[in-house]
Amino acid sequence: MNIKEEILKLKEMKKAVILAHNYQIPEIQDLADFVGDSLELSKHSKKINAPLIVFCGVRFMAETAKILSPRKKVLLPALDAGCPLADTILPDQLLALRAKHPDAWVVSYVNTSAQIKALSDVCCTSSNAVAVVKNVPVKKVIFVPDKNLGNWVAKNVPEKEIIIWQGFCYVHEQFTLEELERAKKRLPDAEILVHPECRSEVVEHADFVLSTAGMLAHAKKSSAKRFIVGTEEGMLHKLKKESPDKEFYSLGCAKTCVNMKKTTLRQLRDSLAKERYEIDLEKEIIAKASVALERMIEYI
Ligand code: 13P
Ligand code: SF4
Repeated sequence: MNIKEEILKLKEMKKAVILAHNYQIPEIQDLADFVGDSLELSKHSKKINAPLIVFCGVRFMAETAKILSPRKKVLLPALDAGCPLADTILPDQLLALRAKHPDAWVVSYVNTSAQIKALSDVCCTSSNAVAVVKNVPVKKVIFVPDKNLGNWVAKNVPEKEIIIWQGFCYVHEQFTLEELERAKKRLPDAEILVHPECRSEVVEHADFVLSTAGMLAHAKKSSAKRFIVGTEEGMLHKLKKESPDKEFYSLGCAKTCVNMKKTTLRQLRDSLAKERYEIDLEKEIIAKASVALERMIEYI
């Protein structure tokens, strides 16, 4: 039996569901029951009936699934698959900011720890951040932790005062305006799609600013035949799979999220076999964080 067959057999035996983010390696994406962006994965994890969820992604995503489905067992196959962006803000720092701006609501990007979500009023993802900030019933917002997504939101919601935490994603921060201008010259007929975690000057010069699921949907319906993609290189696999008649290129050289690539087929098999590494969160954290996550779904 090869490793893929082993995984499928274990999955059936344990009545497990495998979820994978769009940045996972192609072999994992192809084996998963559902592949999506952060918002789709959050919504999907809530709907699942199976008792066991194996989350191929990074820790904050598996934690989000646990918060939304606390009675299910949620596993993260690669123990150290974290998100450096999520680590840029600590609970004490957020508490200090809240104390300084008591009239503001805290809107936290899902790329945060469960503890930060528990201290937030509402969460958002890259695909709904603008809508969430527009719809919160206050004029002042503390937006954490991504400065580039925060700037994108501030540009699109000028009627609100937004205090932006200065965290960033080291993968998306690598895309430059020079790369974008060179790509435009080389492929003038191609559309440029970038993730809102890219630097503001890159976002301003792109044709479309989209979450990973937004890129997939856009590529399918666009009349363009070629696309330059400013996000983690794992995206190209799904874009090519879903729009096989179109061409996709990374913006500049390919950029890789090391943590997203930590999940291998071996780790997925061992995770299923040994039911490791289980996401374990305090009940109080789950209760508070789920209010912020459920509100996100209410505000979009
Ligand atoms: P999406 O929600 O667009 O999938 O983004 C998640 C992420 O980690 C981007 O770096
Ligand atoms: Fe975190 Fe950036 Fe990796 Fe997304 S691509 S998981 S934001 S480090």
